[in-house]
Amino acid sequence: MINKSKSVKVWGPSIRIGHWTLVIAFFTAYLTEDDLMSVHVWAGYIVGCYLVMRIIWGFVGGKYVRFSHFVYSPTRIVGYLKNLIARRPQHYIGHNPAGGAMVIALLLSLTGTAGTGMKLYAVEDNKGPFAISAQQAQMQLASVSVISAAKAENAEDDDADEESKPARTNHLVDKQSEEFWEELHEFFANLTLLLVFFHLLGVVVSSYIDKEKLVKAMLTGKKDIDDTYQ
Ligand code: HEM
Ligand code: HEM
Repeated sequence: MINKSKSVKVWGPSIRIGHWTLVIAFFTAYLTEDDLMSVHVWAGYIVGCYLVMRIIWGFVGGKYVRFSHFVYSPTRIVGYLKNLIARRPQHYIGHNPAGGAMVIALLLSLTGTAGTGMKLYAVEDNKGPFAISAQQAQMQLASVSVISAAKAENAEDDDADEESKPARTNHLVDKQSEEFWEELHEFFANLTLLLVFFHLLGVVVSSYIDKEKLVKAMLTGKKDIDDTYQ
């Protein structure tokens, strides 16, 4: 049986530097907020830049980096996992089918986390890429005031505190929107953390049961392969 081993270049510097920068930025963002808001926001922006780079690379990057190379059908993913459990692992030069699905899930969840973070930053502090101009803010305020004034007019207790009603409704709208985006941001951040847990589990399983040196490959860019690799 021919079983020659050779070293192949799988991950280029942008993927490797990008991955380890992402790891640091993600945990920095996860562990900071409130007092360290500027650190949180900048760590989040680094995650955002990584995502833009990785998504572009997914279409125009090298062979193993392209989405078309590691997005497999559910049947292939299940087949791969069955073989892994039966201790008959199939070897892949790039991401294996299960690893590829996890990469897509991570990229989607990270996009949700960074996107909702930017939206929340705009709603809370009117800062960041989704912040609105002073003119837009005035217009929004005016439209909310008109609606709430109309509601106040229709209300039964006209004589009570007519003037305070528009302001109160306005405040309520802002609070509701802030709570919505905060909940959604927290949800995506925790979903990403859960996916990272399974990502690490996958790396550990492949590294030890399957004898794949995946972490080394993510550091050096090279994999030692033989003719069992596809
Ligand atoms: C110390 C912790 C981590 C280790 C040891 C690690 C290890 C790895 C390894 C070995 C790969 C390549 C897997 C393969 O060959 O199929 C990989 C890919 C990946 N990891 Fe991690 N990882 C870590 C943390 C994270 C975190 C925290 C995130 C996201 C928040 C993450 C997101 C990704 C993504 C998106 C890829 C795909 C890389 C690409 O194709 O560009 N990893 N990781
Ligand atoms: C992608 C990585 C990110 C992670 C893992 C992350 C994680 C978190 C977590 C866990 C919270 C606490 C949620 C809660 O308990 O209510 C939070 C809050 C927040 N994040 Fe992020 N975030 C990220 C990116 C961003 C970005 C890019 C921005 C804005 C540009 C942002 C803006 C905020 C804001 C404004 C809060 C609310 C802080 C407060 O009022 O207490 N985040 N984030």
